[in-house]
Order: sequence, then structure tokens, then C-alpha cells
Amino acid sequence: MTTNSQVELQHGARGQRVLVAGATGYLGRHLVRALIDAGCQVRALVRRPEQAAALPRGVDAFVGQVTDPATLSGVADDIDVVISSLGITRQRDGVTYMDVDYRGNLALLQLAEKAGVRRFAYVSVLHGRDLRATVRLAAAKERFVDALTASPISTVVVRPTGYFADMSEFLTMAGRGAVSLFGDGQASINPISGRDVATACVAAAWSDATEVEVGGPDTFTFDGIARAAFAAQGTTPTIRHIPQGLAAAAAWVLARCTPERVYGPLQFLIAVMTHDMTAPQTGSDRLVDYFTQAARDGRS
Ligand SMILES: NC(=O)c1ccc[n+]([C@@H]2O[C@H](COP(=O)([O-])OP(=O)(O)OC[C@H]3O[C@@H](n4cnc5c(N)ncnc54)[C@H](OP(=O)(O)O)[C@@H]3O)[C@@H](O)[C@H]2O)c1
Repeated sequence: MTTNSQVELQHGARGQRVLVAGATGYLGRHLVRALIDAGCQVRALVRRPEQAAALPRGVDAFVGQVTDPATLSGVADDIDVVISSLGITRQRDGVTYMDVDYRGNLALLQLAEKAGVRRFAYVSVLHGRDLRATVRLAAAKERFVDALTASPISTVVVRPTGYFADMSEFLTMAGRGAVSLFGDGQASINPISGRDVATACVAAAWSDATEVEVGGPDTFTFDGIARAAFAAQGTTPTIRHIPQGLAAAAAWVLARCTPERVYGPLQFLIAVMTHDMTAPQTGSDRLVDYFTQAARDGRS
């Protein structure tokens, strides 16, 4: 069903030239699709030429490295709107959150400002401001939000809860017979699909909002997510709770003797599983359906 606001959005976005950074990621792929559906001309920033071949037809690929701004020259030329879902979710490249989530996005913002881009939409995390003091990933993302807020161009920060793709980890653990959680499993979250976040990002990009929090239609405790994962896998629930104090102490020690790629994801997971992570409900995709389909496809 197409709503009035979608019609208005499609009208406003139609024909606009949009640069998507992070286009090859889970959310970025949905963003590219949502923008094509809204009638936009899409340019996708990719870091390897072979990634260009996997983009939908009609998408203009720009190959460049956000960690080497000299390779980005011209990326924002003739662009109306930038949407960035660029960031490290799994550390693999030997670079840090500050290198990519902060400096990489900053390089894009500076080019966007020079090129006269009208609006810049950026995907951070829910409660990023509260988490920045203790979570390295949030510190890098919020440092970029500071730069974005100070920018002379119009900007919006989208703050989603957890994505369905990241909830797959619970499905994998459930398939193996036991799910381990940090904390008592009672913190709440309403996870959201990539498709629904993408729709919210496109709506935010063509709104006057400066900040938008988005979550999915169903709220769970983490114990509830684990139980849903066991139900999808058809396995008997065994849930282990790692006490928050013990997990925090382990993260504190690891932060002093291991690289960021080891302690960074742990810090983030502990924070998410022990804080309320519910955001205004939007979208229509259900986590239970995603789990059922993923378990059926053997994707867990
Ligand atoms: N996952 C969640 O639950 C969640 C929740 C809230 C907010 N977020 C935020 O939402 C954003 C998108 O998340 P996602 O799940 O779509 O992440 P993702 O699938 O890991 O995609 C990240 C994107 O950033 C690019 N990237 C990562 N490291 C890079 C580097 N060193 N140089 C250049 N490009 C690099 C990736 O390029 P390649 O494809 O080439 O690797 C990819 O296009 C992230 O900023 C994340 O922090 C995520």
C-alpha cells in the first residue's frame, strides 16, 4: 500500500541525485533499492571495482577509499543529497572506528560542503550520545555527529536500534543449542529490518528533521529474542546469562591489552544488551518472520 506521505516523498525525491556511502553493506544495499524505487539517480561509493558489478542496473559506481581522501575527489559533484551508512560493524581491515566512522565520514562531509550538496543524512546508533563515553564505536560516530551538526549544510542523524541482520547471531547460537547473553536478558529492544531502516532514512532525507530515532514494530527482551531464535530453529532453549559486572570488567581489561577490533565489538554488545534500546516503532517487517525464513534457508 502506498501512503500519502510516500507519494509526497516520491514526488520530492524523484530525479534527485543521491550519493550513498556504505552502499555495499546490509543497510546500504536496502538504501540503494529504496532510492531507486523513489525515482532517484543513485551514485554508490564502493572501495573495490568488482563491487560495482553487484550494484543494481543504472547505479553509478564511484570507486574510492574513505581512508584516503585523495581518492574521493569529485565523489559529491552534482549530488543533491548524501546518505551515509558507512561504518565499521565487523573490524577486518586494520583500521579503527575513528579512521572510518569519524574521519571517513568527515572527508565525505567536507567534499559535500565544497560541492554544494543540499542535505547530508547520516546513520548513527540509538543513544549514541549516552554511549560515547564508554563505547569506542559510539565515540567515533558521535564525533562525526558533532561535525555534522556544525556543518553549514542541512543535516539529519538517523538513530536505529539493532538490525535484523545482527540478530542472526542469536539464531546461529540457538542452532548450536545455547544462547549467551550479557546481563540478565531483561533489557528491551525493538529490532528493525534493513528495508525498514532504509525507508526511514529516505523519509528523513526529504524531511526537515535533524534527528530521527527508529525501531521495528515488535519489542522484545533479549531473553525473548533468544526464545524466538530457538523457536525458529526448533531447538530446546538454553539461555546463559553472563553477569553485566563480569562482562564489563572483561571489556575493561581487554580495552587495555587488546586492539580495538577485539574489545570494540564486545563493548558495544555489552552496552546494547544492558540498556533500554527501544525507539519509536516504524516499519512492518517482523523479526519472527525473518528468523523463520532465515532458519528455513539455513542462513543462520
Ligand atoms: N548493525 C546494526 O545493528 C546497527 C544498528 C544501528 C546502527 N548501525 C550503523 O548503521 C550503519 C550500517 O550498518 P550495516 O549493518 O549496514 O553495516 P555493514 O553491512 O558492515 O556495512 C558497512 C559499510 O561500510 C563500509 N566500510 C566498512 N569499513 C570500511 C572501510 N575501512 N573503508 C571503506 N568502507 C568501509 C562497508 O564496505 P565493504 O562492503 O566494502 O566492507 C559497507 O559498505 C553502520 O554505521 C552501523 O554502525 C548498525
